[in-house]
Amino acid sequence: MAKARTQFICQNCGTVHNRWAGKCENCGEWNTIVEEDPMGGIGSGPGKTPKKGRPVALTALSGEIEEAPRIHTAMSELDRALGGGFVRGSAVLIGGDPGIGKSTLLMQAAAALARRGHKIIYVSGEEAVAQVRLRAQRLAAADTDVMLAAETNVEDILATLAEGKRPDLVIIDSIQTLWSELAESAPGTVTQVRTGVQAMIRFAKQTGAAMVLVGHVTKDGQIAGPRVVEHMVDAVLYFEGDRGHHYRILRTVKNRFGPTDEIGVFEMSDKGLREVANPSELFLGERNEKSPGAAVFAGMEGTRPVLVEVQALVAPTSLGTPRRAVVGWDSARLSMILAVLEAHCGVRLGQHDVYLNIAGGYRITEPAADLAVASALVSSLAGIALPADCVYFGEVSLSGAIRPVAHTAQRLKEAEKLGFSAALLPSASAELPKGSGGRWSEVESLPDLVARIAG
Ligand code: TYD
Ligand code: MG
Repeated sequence: MAKARTQFICQNCGTVHNRWAGKCENCGEWNTIVEEDPMGGIGSGPGKTPKKGRPVALTALSGEIEEAPRIHTAMSELDRALGGGFVRGSAVLIGGDPGIGKSTLLMQAAAALARRGHKIIYVSGEEAVAQVRLRAQRLAAADTDVMLAAETNVEDILATLAEGKRPDLVIIDSIQTLWSELAESAPGTVTQVRTGVQAMIRFAKQTGAAMVLVGHVTKDGQIAGPRVVEHMVDAVLYFEGDRGHHYRILRTVKNRFGPTDEIGVFEMSDKGLREVANPSELFLGERNEKSPGAAVFAGMEGTRPVLVEVQALVAPTSLGTPRRAVVGWDSARLSMILAVLEAHCGVRLGQHDVYLNIAGGYRITEPAADLAVASALVSSLAGIALPADCVYFGEVSLSGAIRPVAHTAQRLKEAEKLGFSAALLPSASAELPKGSGGRWSEVESLPDLVARIAG
């Protein structure tokens, strides 16, 4: 008989392949494809009698529409990233590298909520109850009514939750430890993780509890990563940070009930995570103002302005092929800026290594950083330090023109607040703040910028 049931599933992105391969064609990861039985026994149980649903006319609902009912955590950075708190009956995925601080964040949130009278159940599949308690003690959360359970079996967890008399919030730490008797694959595989997550989402929808699912970002393909359940949950947040630095960023990448471009900023201390209300001060903390190659970018993260230093090093190469290395920015975008500098400004970089770093391990996603990057590159190549009191923002087009970006006034206001008195920005920028003492100069094009810095 043909062996038809097994599939080859990428543990990183969930793509189904019909044969094994070393590299996943979809996400480009190596050694992530594992043979699984997708049905895994599902459907082999007793048949379920279909129940008739009741469709409702959209117009009939007009009187009932309200804001999504939220549970505010009183941790303003977490609430900000969630779009105003956890939503009842919804599922949130919090992903991140192992050891980044996901359990710490959620224990703090759980304690804060329990103090406000909410019923919280923390299900830990990774640590024993005693270990979780030890962390809670360190976080000064051990005196709260957070209920702990150390379980990994989906059916057991559901039984525990059903007994817990309607929790307001359930934390599952982590989805990779979930295993269900309904799926036959090994724990940690895509099928197991999806089955477990599906059951948790169903529980949230049925009881109105907010469900928080923790997922480790995995580097090898032996365990399914959080990406394979992203499409199933209502919101996806990633907890990011650099091991060498203390701060952590909670970044929203999907949110059915709120904005997706918000970030929450925290600092890891020996007593847990501390909220950082003004990230710019943190990111600009270690500036070296007098060296060439550094430009301060006035960026936006959602509704909040964030100032961060862009550092470039352009040096003659000793290799046949010059090196291009980028940390914290898109390398394709750097190639584009270098090409525009070569084509329109006569800046020859073919014999130079180029290194670009965003200070403090921060990651920029906005195209508005182009002008700051170009300024840092030109400054390093020319060996001329940029004025220490100036910020830069604007998008560079392939023709070398500097394009306006949104939120000019907010960027400039934040810069002024932090002691910057000058800015280089696109011409035709709307909404320049009136009556402020700042020197705002407009640049038309990249050749214009090069002439100003090196000219
Ligand atoms: P943890 O929350 O266990 O990470 P995750 O759940 O994402 O795997 O955090 C682990 C790291 O955080 C660990 O290296 C120790 C550090 N940490 C602190 O620095 N201060 C603290 O108060 C706590 C609880 C952890
Ligand atoms: Mg953990």
